[in-house]
Amino acid sequence: MSIKGKVVVTGGAGFIGSGLIRCLAEKGHRDIVAFDNLYSGKEANLAGVPGVGLQVGDIRDFDAVAAAVAGADTVFHLAAIPSVPRSIVEPVPSHEVNIDGTFQVFRACHEAKVRRVVYAASSSAYGDTLVLPKVETMAPSPKSPYAAQKLMGEYYASVFFSCYGLETVSLRFFNVYGPRQDPSSPYSGVLSIFNSCLLKRVAPTIHGDGEQSRDFTYVEDVAGLCIKAAEAGSQVAGKVYNAGNGNRYTLNQVWDALQKIEGVSLPASYGPSRAGDVRDSQADATLAVAELGHAPQFTLEEGLRRTLDWYRSGISGKI
Ligand code: UD1
Repeated sequence: MSIKGKVVVTGGAGFIGSGLIRCLAEKGHRDIVAFDNLYSGKEANLAGVPGVGLQVGDIRDFDAVAAAVAGADTVFHLAAIPSVPRSIVEPVPSHEVNIDGTFQVFRACHEAKVRRVVYAASSSAYGDTLVLPKVETMAPSPKSPYAAQKLMGEYYASVFFSCYGLETVSLRFFNVYGPRQDPSSPYSGVLSIFNSCLLKRVAPTIHGDGEQSRDFTYVEDVAGLCIKAAEAGSQVAGKVYNAGNGNRYTLNQVWDALQKIEGVSLPASYGPSRAGDVRDSQADATLAVAELGHAPQFTLEEGLRRTLDWYRSGISGKI
C-alpha cells in the first residue's frame, strides 16, 4: 500500500532521518514533517529538501509528539540517543529517550490512528551469536543498555500491534554510514570517524585488534528499505526484519580500503577493546528481501567513495 499524505520522521534532522527524508522527497512526497529536538540533529541536514517542515520537539513529550503525528499516514520513528559506549557511560538519558520516548511515539501514533509506523531497531539486539549471519529467529542477547533499549522498542512495537492494532514494522539497522553522519564525537559511528581522520591525514584509533567485523550499510539502502516497509501489505505488521546488506568487513579491511581510495598510507593506532562491543555482525537479509523487497544497491566501495566525496566537498564544518 503506497504512502498517502502526511509523513512524519522522528529524528528527521539527524543523519539517517534526513537521508530518509531526502529519499521520500525524491519519490515525490511533499507533506513531510521532521520531528527533532536538535540534540544531535541539524537543520542544515534538511537544507534544500522540498516539502519538508521541521517541528522542534522531544519524543518524551507526549503532547508535542501527538501534535506532530496528527493526521499522519506514516511515521518513521528514528529519533534515539545512539551509541553503545554512550549508553554504558550515561544510561539514564538513553533509557529515557530510547524506551520512554519510543513508548510515547507509539502511544501518540495509536491515538492518531496512524496507518503504519516503521521503527528503527538495532542489530545490537543480537549481541554475540555463535553463528553468522544473524537471523531474526535467533534469541536476542543484548550486551549494552543501548541494545536492551532498542530491543524493548521492538517489543513495544509488536505489542502495540497485537494489543491495539497499530501497524508497526521493526527494522534492525546494521551499522549505517554515509553523508551527514557527524564525526565530531567519540561516540560517532566508526566510518564517520575514519573518513574524518583520512581527510585530516590523522591515524584513527581502532579499539581492539581491528578484526571485529560489521555489516556496514549505506544510508540510501536503509532509507529505501524503510519506505518499502511503510508500503508493504498488512502481513508485515508487528514483525522484525534485518536491514543489512548481508556482508561483513573487519575494521582493518575498511581502513585499508579507505587508504587505497585516497592513495595514502596512514597505519592505524590500536587501543583497548570497548566495553559492550559486539565482535562480529552480519545480517541474513533473506526475510527482508522476500517479504519487503529489500534490494541494496551500494557495494561498500561505492558507499565509501560517495561518503568520502561528501566529506571532501566544502570540507570545513564537516570533519
Ligand atoms: C552499534 C550497532 C549498530 C547501531 C549503532 C548505534 C552492533 C553490531 N551495531 O554499532 O547497529 O546502529 O550501535 O550507535 O551492535 N571503533 C573504533 N574506533 C573508533 C570508533 C569505533 O575502533 O574511533 C570500533 C568500535 O569499538 C566497534 C566498531 O568500531 O567495534 C563500530 O563501532 P560504532 O560505529 O560505534 O558502532 P557499533 O557499536 O558497532
